[in-house]
Amino acid sequence: MTNRENFGSRAAVIMAMAGSAIGLGNIWRFPFIVGEYGGAAFILVYIVCCFLLSLPILLSESIIGRRTHQNTFGAMSTLAPGTHWKWLGLLTIVSPLIILSYYSVVGGWSFAYLIKACALQFKPENVEEVTGMFAAFSSSVWGPLACLLVFLGLTALIIFSGVKKGIEKFSKISMPVLFVLIVVIAVYSVTLPGAMDGVRYLVKPDFSKLSSDAFSAALGQSFFSLSLGVGTMLIYSSYVSKDENILVSGTGTALFDMLFAILAGFAVMPAVFAAGIAPSSGPGLVFETLPYIFAKMGAGGQFLSAAVAILFFLTILVAALTSSISMMEVGVAYMVEEKGVSRTKATAGIFFLTLVLGILCSLSFGTLSGVKLLGNTIFNFCDRLCSNWLMTLGALMFSIFVGWKMDKAAVRDELTNGGTLKANSRMFPFIYFLIKYIAPLTIAAIFISGLLA
Ligand code: PHE
Repeated sequence: MTNRENFGSRAAVIMAMAGSAIGLGNIWRFPFIVGEYGGAAFILVYIVCCFLLSLPILLSESIIGRRTHQNTFGAMSTLAPGTHWKWLGLLTIVSPLIILSYYSVVGGWSFAYLIKACALQFKPENVEEVTGMFAAFSSSVWGPLACLLVFLGLTALIIFSGVKKGIEKFSKISMPVLFVLIVVIAVYSVTLPGAMDGVRYLVKPDFSKLSSDAFSAALGQSFFSLSLGVGTMLIYSSYVSKDENILVSGTGTALFDMLFAILAGFAVMPAVFAAGIAPSSGPGLVFETLPYIFAKMGAGGQFLSAAVAILFFLTILVAALTSSISMMEVGVAYMVEEKGVSRTKATAGIFFLTLVLGILCSLSFGTLSGVKLLGNTIFNFCDRLCSNWLMTLGALMFSIFVGWKMDKAAVRDELTNGGTLKANSRMFPFIYFLIKYIAPLTIAAIFISGLLA
């Protein structure tokens, strides 16, 4: 095996993992899902899902990754040699690459919108144009493709620089900046006239609004948001040294991710209410509604709203990049460690592969919109395939593997650093119970009920 790098400190581990977790899922997806499923009550369900179901999966991936210090395929082959578990390793190489392809399309849009914001294109005189801008832009050919290329190129550049000089450095610089930015935007948003209705919507639960499919939506959202079931947390954990406390880094990651999602809710929803727009306006919320709001409201003058628009799309772009690098790393680590390819060649290979699929996903908003896979456009097909199926399947398999296949003593050893972490040792029976029974059974039940619904 090649000389592997490790993250340099606990802060680096948490920043990298939180970097993977915090992304479009928090800023783009979370607000509109909360909007669709009725606000505060959904957020409560989401929080419970995160801690009871998603955190055990995150810990399962951490246990496998840190135990083996290998890529996903190597890890499964080492822990369960000669078994079919290697397919789980392979699945988690393919699925992050599919996600990376369509994720980069949206990452490219945020780059484009950052440029539009800098060019002061969200003007109050042409508000109709601002809302129509998204459909026109996303269905065009060259603009989105150029932005996709830039986004994937930046991702490849960071990955190419390595674990410490690339992933660790970029995450350590950008995560604190992201938190500051989202707080600034949230403060701006809640102080807009009429914003208080949006705040109420986020903090006052109305359980009558909770539909039965809210549970599978909350679970899906928390898997997506915490980057679970696709090997990204496994690969990052494989760069964690033996003396780190993976219970602390895992819990820290989940807490930061949740905090960021809630802050993003406060950045988006109050502004949406202030502008009198329906909170359930769906995926277009961030790219259609927000530029409209920035153009229309202009609280504190046009200069301030232009500045906030720039900060907002910069936040999305950087958050998306700290996530996309984690997706690319899974495949690159596999190519380097299993196939003996150099890091440069592996990065280039994965870059081109995802670029091709990314181009198809991007064109499926315009030129290729007629091409349907099981009734979905290419972009939607990739998204549904991954977020509804592959992530859940991967998550389920990881918890079954750690709970039922791995030796219990090895699991305890990993979670307690050979029994030296006393608090972890005391909590071990509870965590093991979550991993072995609660997580797989509940995930399977929610998954099956979602299929039948
Ligand atoms: N968690 C990321 C987000 O919230 C998305 C992601 C999914 C990242 C899967 C890695 C793997 O945007």
